[in-house]
Formats: sequence, C-alpha cells, structure tokens
Amino acid sequence: MRFPEYRPRRLRKNQSFRDLIAETRISENDLIYPLFVKHGKGKKDEIKTMPGIYQFSIDEAVKEAKEVEKLGIKAIILFGIPKKKDEAATEAYDENGIIQEAVRAIKAKTEKLLVITDICLCEYMSHGHCGVVKDGKIQNDITLELLAQTALSHAEAGADMVAPSDMMDGRVAAIRSELDKEGFEDTPIMAYSAKYASSFYGPFREAAHSTPEFGDRKTYQMDPPNVDEALREAGMDIEEGADIVMVKPALAYLDVIREVKSAYGYPTGAYNVSGEYSIIKVAAKAGLIDEKKAVLEILTSIKRAGADMIITYHAKDAAKWLK
Ligand code: PBG
Repeated sequence: MRFPEYRPRRLRKNQSFRDLIAETRISENDLIYPLFVKHGKGKKDEIKTMPGIYQFSIDEAVKEAKEVEKLGIKAIILFGIPKKKDEAATEAYDENGIIQEAVRAIKAKTEKLLVITDICLCEYMSHGHCGVVKDGKIQNDITLELLAQTALSHAEAGADMVAPSDMMDGRVAAIRSELDKEGFEDTPIMAYSAKYASSFYGPFREAAHSTPEFGDRKTYQMDPPNVDEALREAGMDIEEGADIVMVKPALAYLDVIREVKSAYGYPTGAYNVSGEYSIIKVAAKAGLIDEKKAVLEILTSIKRAGADMIITYHAKDAAKWLK
C-alpha cells in the first residue's frame, strides 16, 4: 500500500464511512455490571471512592437489577458485604449469607438477567486475605474447600455462573468437581485467570471493606511484568473446566487480553476495575476529559484487544449512551 494509490483518509471522510468500516463494535450485550450488596433495608449508600456506585441493601439491589435488565445489559456480578467477618469466612458459604439471599431475591424479580457471583473469601475474612491464613501464610489447599463450598451455596441459591477471583492454585478444578457432584454440572465457571496484584483495586477495597490487614496479595495474585505466566494460568483454568477466562485489570493489561484470546480462542472476559473507573470519573469531574467519549473509547479498546465481555462500573452509563 502506498500513496497516492491508497489514501486511508478516503474512508474516514464522514461518520457513515467510518461506521461502515468499523472493526470493533461495542453494545450493551458485551457488558457486565458489578453490584455491591449488604444487609439492611432501604439502603443505597454511595461509595466514597467510586462516584456513582453504591452499596445496596437487597431490596434496593433488586430495583437496581431490574433497571439494569431494562437497559439491555445481560449480566450482573455480585459482591457481598457480610454482617461479620471471621477467620473462616463463614458467611461466604452460609446459605443465608448476603450473596445467597441477594441471588434468590434478584432471580425472583428479573427475567433474563444473568446473575454471576464473585467467589472469594477476602470480604468475609477478618484479616481481609483471599484464603485461610495459618502462621501468617495464605494456605492454598484448605482454602479450596471453602471456595468450593461457597460456589455450591451460590449455585444452590440460583446463581447463573460463578466467578472465582481468589487466585488460589487449583480452585477451578475444586469448584467444578463440587458443582458436578451436587448436580450443577450445567453451571458455568468464569475464572479470573490472570488477575494481577494491581494498585487499581484501591477503590474496590473501600467499597467491599476487603483491604488485607497485613501484607499484600502478591503471593497469590500475578506479578504485573508477566504474560507467559498469564497464558499458563489461563491454560490451567481451561483444563480444570473454566468456561470463560478473564484478565484483570483491563487497561494496563490489554496485551494480556490479546494473548489469552489468541492462544485459546476461548470466551474471554476483561475486568475494567474500580481504579480505572474512578480515574475517569475524577478526571471528567475536573473537566479534563469528556466522560462519555473516554468511556466508549476505553470499552472499545478492551474489546479490540480481544475481550468478548467486559465487567465495568460504566455499564449502565454506556448502555444508555449506546442506545
Ligand atoms: C476479590 C476481588 C477484588 C476485586 C474483585 N474481586 C479485590 C482484590 O482482589 O483486592 C477488584 C475489583 C475492582 O477493583 O473493581 N478478591
């Protein structure tokens, strides 16, 4: 291709031509909306670190879920804030825990909306780590049993899909075999396969009260410099029975999304995380960027990188803008 035979600007000259040749399109079908649920009634409390995002009591979460469904968004992912935390994450797998109750309530009042549940123990652990702690260390294999129990309790409550975000080794296999054993062989698993130890989770930890009390998550979440390792993680999850593999965060890891998608051709998700969201909100509020344009550009870039679906706090706004 060379000038003047090829003039790329010919097909950029107006919006109709640009639309005609667009290689990537996003729609509300691609989006998953995260919801934070807590105990109580009539509560809708804005999260300080995440403007426009709330912690809902179950009754309010039901209203929100119905609104999300009306916008054409296909799925929500639930995060729970328990009544009490302990060293065994008891509420995570309690059949009357916050998530289990929320799933039942939302499934009863929505029609097609998929309810995905995040499987992790950090919100339920007094120390805030994603696994059982013994002698100051995060224990892998005993944690697997609790994760499997948690996933089963969510499936029993009616969850359409479970999404382990803990980054313990072998969790997908543990969850898959527990679900299969109990008759939930049709419940899919969306694995947070390449979840990095990222600074971009800061606002979420405020939202979910899940900041670790000591140390950090670097012994289980991935190290940002690595991408070959992400392929091993995703490959393992697929072998263990993951139906969807996910990369998290999205924006600083677009290359990882592309590599995972290209390597496996599996349904691939990306999590546009809390820090990525709040940066945009704050910058837009300060008049530094146009929020709508920036958000649509970001979501397009995540999809262009290879994501089939995007978990994003912008989902409701984006769905409205895309209508
Ligand atoms: C739980 C979990 C976290 C997020 C999703 N699930 C926090 C963490 O790992 O510290 C982060 C989501 C976000 O930042 O939007 N393990």
